[in-house]
Amino acid sequence: MRPLFLVASLVVLAACGGGSTVSAPRPSPRASGGGGSAAPVEAVVSGAPLLPPEWGLAGRAKATTGARAMVVSGHPLASEVGIEILKQGGNAVDAAVAVGFALEVVLPEAGNIGGGGFIVYRDATGRVRALDYRETAPAGASRDMYLDSAGHVTERSLTGHLASGVPGSVAGMYEAWKKYGRRPWATLIAPAIRLAEGHMLDAVRSRDLEAEADRLRLFPASARQFLVEGHAPAPGAMFRQPELARTLRLIADSGPDVFYRGQIADSIVAEMQRGHGLITKNDLAGYRAKWRTPVQVTYRGYTVYSMPPASSGGVTMGEILNILEGYDTLPPFGSAAYVHLETEAMRRAFIDRNRWLGDPDFVSMPLDRLLSKSYAAQLRAEIDPRKATPTPPFAAGGDESLETTHYSVVDADGNAAAVTTTLNGGFGSAVTVQGAGFLLNNEMDDFAAAPGQPNQYGLVQGEANAIAPKKRMLSAMTPSIVLDRDGKLFMVVGTPGGPTIITSVFQVIVNVVDFKMSLADAVAAPRIHHQALPDIIGYERNGLLPAVVDSLKAMGHEVRMRGGYSGDIAAIQRVGSRWVGVSDPRRGGGAAGW
Ligand code: DON
Repeated sequence: MRPLFLVASLVVLAACGGGSTVSAPRPSPRASGGGGSAAPVEAVVSGAPLLPPEWGLAGRAKATTGARAMVVSGHPLASEVGIEILKQGGNAVDAAVAVGFALEVVLPEAGNIGGGGFIVYRDATGRVRALDYRETAPAGASRDMYLDSAGHVTERSLTGHLASGVPGSVAGMYEAWKKYGRRPWATLIAPAIRLAEGHMLDAVRSRDLEAEADRLRLFPASARQFLVEGHAPAPGAMFRQPELARTLRLIADSGPDVFYRGQIADSIVAEMQRGHGLITKNDLAGYRAKWRTPVQVTYRGYTVYSMPPASSGGVTMGEILNILEGYDTLPPFGSAAYVHLETEAMRRAFIDRNRWLGDPDFVSMPLDRLLSKSYAAQLRAEIDPRKATPTPPFAAGGDESLETTHYSVVDADGNAAAVTTTLNGGFGSAVTVQGAGFLLNNEMDDFAAAPGQPNQYGLVQGEANAIAPKKRMLSAMTPSIVLDRDGKLFMVVGTPGGPTIITSVFQVIVNVVDFKMSLADAVAAPRIHHQALPDIIGYERNGLLPAVVDSLKAMGHEVRMRGGYSGDIAAIQRVGSRWVGVSDPRRGGGAAGW
């Protein structure tokens, strides 16, 4: 009886706007300064969480603990590879490189030598750096290359040879290893080679392959590599990728040179010529991974490091956190009042993202201003606690597919790596490099193919992210590291999910910091998403109480249940002297502790 009674009373509260109103933000030293040194204040949460009884993931996230180290990734076999390297004396970067190559093999939809990514790395001394190995537009790319004669965006940024940017992952992993790695390079690729020679396909990956079989069938090398008679191999089948094993052996023996100048470069260029793609030997030879200064924001005394442009992740999440920090009291988790508040913060941050952000080598961005507490105070003051602030309506909507992947690593010395990598959409461009056994990305779609028109995620972006030769397309990936109030490593977190990456990472951090959830509950909790345009709050199936949805509508929000779940968080938290790893129950990842 009691749970029913509880739910009934929660519904009543929700119908009243969440059982509490959002207190108008009080001017505080934190809200007015440009960083400030005022003592951090805990948010006071005004009531119990509102979790719909039908929410399917309640209690479903499993926490794995490790006394020394932890690896959480999108595939259990890849996490085990990371721990194997750590046990051999490798550090977090060694493990990150080994996991990255293993994911290329066991998670072909997202992994990734044909794609790009980002690492936020904090060493045990406290130094934090960010590595950008995002793809670049080929030199032959041009602003309107995806428009037809009527000015409409075509599908060519999504499927086929023209969709690919110059891959950055091999250069990025080598750069990270060169600077920080401890174990021999070839040792880190050996587990991936072993897996490429054959491993058991699991049910999740078999289903993912079947879901994209139509696209993979369009390209003979993809069909040969991933399908059996046009369909995904069944769960439990031995999955062998001999061409990929050979490619990995070449990279293990010769490093990135073979990929960017040697035999593999030749195969990529031959593939481009077969399908009228743009990537040339010069594009490959000219690719460079770049070290960037991470975004750093404080949130209620915690310090959050995340990825700067060419990803929008750190800046956009930083703005959301800064806006939220000004509320000394927060309504309960899941209430209409809270969803309204986070939505309005997300809306404002995404408006800035879509307007200002792009490749830092091409556009200048007012990052200091966007990340200042005073600017957040200004945005916060414009939020009406009872009413939505509409952004111009827009017809398109984007649902993310899950073809990015995040992994988090902490080693026995306390070095930490947050890594998010992507091919962009489902199995990238669906083009496998013939003879080399890996898929190429379709990252070109992350540019604004036509500034002002939506991309596959419904993101409407501006000139700052227009296509230009050699430019990096703006990302939403948000690999993040959080320190506690004593400056000690506290969380390592990230996820796939297109633009929902930003809002998912934000929600997991706030669930832990403000709502005091365990990491497992914070990851399993239902998430919402708003990205300014389309002007819609998306929520996961059964993720909000119907009365909360009604309240939000009454406040002027358009609210829609999303097709599926949002994201696939891979997170680590320090609890006492142990590491807790949580892989999102939404997908088929895994945590491995030591
Ligand atoms: O870099 C980005 O923001 C996108 N290419 C990420 C795509 C993604 O997360 C798709 N998977 N869910």
